[in-house]
Order: sequence, then C-alpha cells, then structure tokens
Amino acid sequence: MGFQIAIDGPAGAGKSTVAKELAKRLAFTYLDTGAMYRTLGLAAELSGCWPETFEDRIRLCDNTDIDVRFLEGNQHIFLNGRDVSGDIRTEHCGRLASDISKYPEVRSRLVTMQQKLASGMNVIMDGRDIGTVVLPDAQMKIFLTADVEERAARRYKELKGKGQEPVFEEILAQVKERDIQDTTRSASPLTRAKDGIVVDSTNLSFNEVIAVILAIYGERAKQ
Ligand code: DC
Repeated sequence: MGFQIAIDGPAGAGKSTVAKELAKRLAFTYLDTGAMYRTLGLAAELSGCWPETFEDRIRLCDNTDIDVRFLEGNQHIFLNGRDVSGDIRTEHCGRLASDISKYPEVRSRLVTMQQKLASGMNVIMDGRDIGTVVLPDAQMKIFLTADVEERAARRYKELKGKGQEPVFEEILAQVKERDIQDTTRSASPLTRAKDGIVVDSTNLSFNEVIAVILAIYGERAKQ
C-alpha cells in the first residue's frame, strides 16, 4: 500500500489548492474527488431531466462514462469522452455536485472508483468523506477548515480576481447553504474522522497551512 493522505473539510476551506501544493512537494498523486461529483451533477443536468428516483439515478450512473486521467501530472476529468475539467469549476456545478452527492447509490459508485484510483499509490485525496469512508485506513487525515465568513471572503476575492462582480452577501449565503447540505445529508455527511487532525486556516497564510501539514507528515512518515 502507498502512503495515503486524506483531506476533508467544508467548501472553500482551500482543500484543493493545499492538496495540489502538497502533492507537488511530496511527489504524490493528487485526486480531486469533488470533480467526480461535479461531473456527474453536470451529466444529470445535461440529461435534461433531474434523476428523481432511485432507478433514474442508477440509469444515470450506468449511462455516464466518467474517466479520470493524469496529463502532465494534472488531473483531467472526461464526461463521455469530453474533457470537462474547466466546465465543472463553476458555482453552479458545485451546487449540482452537492445535490447529486446526497444519494447513497451515487456515492457508492463514485467511492468504488475513487478507491480503485487510489490503490497502491502515494496519494493525496480531497473531498468530504475521504478519511471516514473512501480511505478509512489512510496514514494521515486532515480536516481543513476555516470560519464561514473567511471562506466566503476568499471565494469573493477569487471571483473578483477573475474579473467578475460578485456580491459578498450572496457568496456568503451560498457557502452557508452548501455547508448545511453537505453536513446534514444522511449518506456520509461531512464530518471529521475520529483520527482526523483539524487544521483551521482562518488566521493562517497559505504557506503556513502547508508548513503545518508538512510538519504533521514529517512525524507520520517516521512512524
Ligand atoms: O470539493 P467540491 O466543491 O468540488 O465538491 C463539490 C460537492 O461535491 C460538495 O459540495 C459535496 C460533494 N462532494 C462529496 O459529497 N464528497 C466528496 N468526496 C467530494 C465532494
């Protein structure tokens, strides 16, 4: 078995940026599991009819080909052969992902895929249920969090940086709504694993977060 690092936490805590940087520094493979839920959510929307029933959702999973490939070290995700890595990075797709991820039958399909992708590799995986469900035996589990206002402020800045005109109150409401949906669903809700280490990034810079996690890794790798 390779060395597995699980990073879970709420939307906007910086999981993917942190996980990507750690993967680079440690020469691990980075797997973004949210991208799979986003892609399936997009597939559901493109089908023209939201899968309301269990049978609809099984059909959606059966008829949707999601493929994860690594091109020059970066994860790309393909929906029925089309690279949708860029398309899924919208707030709308985040919402679709959160909606589709409520269903246990959907989760079990994607979890199986994620476990296969991770097997035998040195991997950093981020999501909501990595330490609790996907990689319960991971050697290191981080629960990366930050105050909701801080997460909304970061998202606001990011959108501003992209030349958009976001409204802070709207962003804050979206982040809060996603927190509620991800933590209160009955199937694998977002929760810290018993052996998960909380890293609260509210008052830490990006480099400080990386340093804290690398220090934890240094300790774990010695064991
Ligand atoms: O990390 P993200 O914003 O790309 O995730 C989008 C949504 O997908 C998130 O709101 C909940 C869901 N998700 C999940 O349920 N389990 C995961 N392992 C990853 C994401």
